Amino acid sequence: ADRYAVAGNPVAHSRSPAIHARFAAQTGQAVAYDRLLCPLDAFADTVRAFAASGAKGANITVPFKFEAFALATRRTPRAELAEAANTLRFDADGWLADNTDGVGLVRDITVNAGVALAGQRVLLLGAGGASAGVLGPLIEARPAEIVMANRTVAKAEAIVARHADWAAQHGVRLAARGLDDAGAAFDVFINGTAASLAGSGVPVSAAVLRPGTLAVDMMYGPAARPFLDWVRAHGGEPRDGLGMLVEQAAESFFLWRGVRPDTAPVLAALRAEVD
Ligand code: ATR
Repeated sequence: ADRYAVAGNPVAHSRSPAIHARFAAQTGQAVAYDRLLCPLDAFADTVRAFAASGAKGANITVPFKFEAFALATRRTPRAELAEAANTLRFDADGWLADNTDGVGLVRDITVNAGVALAGQRVLLLGAGGASAGVLGPLIEARPAEIVMANRTVAKAEAIVARHADWAAQHGVRLAARGLDDAGAAFDVFINGTAASLAGSGVPVSAAVLRPGTLAVDMMYGPAARPFLDWVRAHGGEPRDGLGMLVEQAAESFFLWRGVRPDTAPVLAALRAEVD
């Protein structure tokens, strides 16, 4: 079997091996997928050794997505926009870096949740790696407007600035705002502020929601609960990040194998394990 792994620190609780095992079984691909725990100061050496051992690729998770991007010899356009990689393919001529998080999120919203993005108003909360990683593909889905709201406005402004041409090409209004003037009644609300909000509460007014606003946390499990409870309490439609997780994995699998797995049964099985 061709070997792959999820490289990160920590990786013990990663669901990626279980997801890729299901994809491999379903598609009949000879794939073995493990966890690769990388010391914080030895990501490059650990992944180089893995590649040298004959492995074909890796998913990259916290905190190495930026380093993975920097180490690659080639990068997809969506990885360039994110300035981060969640997927490496070890090609004969060097490493290809991709970022499948954004397309995974878009597919979960539009296909799995069945909610349109085209023409809609989208609020993206946070301006860390998670939010920066999905903005390019969100723009490609051609909403009317995307507001990136962040506590530190300058961070949102920098990410918006580097996506300005991409937004213009796709006819999307793109703005950076503070938390106090995020705006109101968005159609879709994406929380990219990670688990850090668990103690402090959702830092924007509930006026950002209208009845039925789809509000997606990029986290799942207990880390997502405070946000999803807040959404439900204010009349929104909550959705956790499990669908995004499965969809980004499917896109990585496609990059490596050229075969697109059917994600629905895998998401259903994972849902039964996590909830
Ligand atoms: P990641 O790479 O997972 O996105 P990060 O880079 O630490 O993690 O970014 C976390 C995001 O959550 C940031 O947008 C951060 O806001 P700042 O850029 O102002 O730091 C946001 N965040 C974290 N804790 C927050 C809080 N208590 N209130 C508001 N925003 C918060």
